[in-house]
Amino acid sequence: MTIADGWPTAARASAAARVDDGALPPVLHPLLAARWSPTTFDPSYEVTAAEVDAILEAARWAPSAGNSQPWAFITGRRSDPIHARLTRHLTGSSAAWAPSASLLVANLCHRYVEDTDWEYSEFAHYDLGQAVAHMTLQAQALGLHAGSLGPSTAPLWRQSSRCHSTGKSRR
Ligand SMILES: Cc1cc2nc3c(=O)[nH]c(=O)nc-3n(C[C@H](O)[C@H](O)[C@H](O)COP(=O)(O)O)c2cc1C
Repeated sequence: MTIADGWPTAARASAAARVDDGALPPVLHPLLAARWSPTTFDPSYEVTAAEVDAILEAARWAPSAGNSQPWAFITGRRSDPIHARLTRHLTGSSAAWAPSASLLVANLCHRYVEDTDWEYSEFAHYDLGQAVAHMTLQAQALGLHAGSLGPSTAPLWRQSSRCHSTGKSRR
């Protein structure tokens, strides 16, 4: 993730211009219009703890089937050992660009009831996707950019001592 200079004012102006050009439907929110997947990041930018908290909070408020909140996230800020650990599991082209991101987040979902092959929620992957979309837009609202990359098969969940579950209180 990196700070985009002048955002969100510039992004809003850019989206407005594209709407005027007829390139975008007028109903598209500027946050959505300005979202794109970067593959280069500002290597000098250090994401703050408050920004990480805000991004996780956005996931916490995502909808989920039966309010099951099947997600959990491992976060690693650059210069943090977790970032280096996540970086070691990157594969393919993302291994070249993702390490420069100021924050890496491994997105996990609770698929099975512990020690059984019973599904915890048949919508777990769907719900995780929604939570990640929330995080992406929250990052965008903070003037950061978020990109997704392919999965790691490493058993990071069991290995990490810093796993954030963002479940909100059940209503
Ligand atoms: C689950 C997922 C995995 C992705 N993996 C990669 C990846 O490994 N490398 C990459 O360069 N882009 C990756 N992307 C980004 C997509 O290629 C990108 O979203 C798509 O081309 C549309 O571009 P946009 O996001 O800029 O609109 C991924 C996107 C998603 C949602």
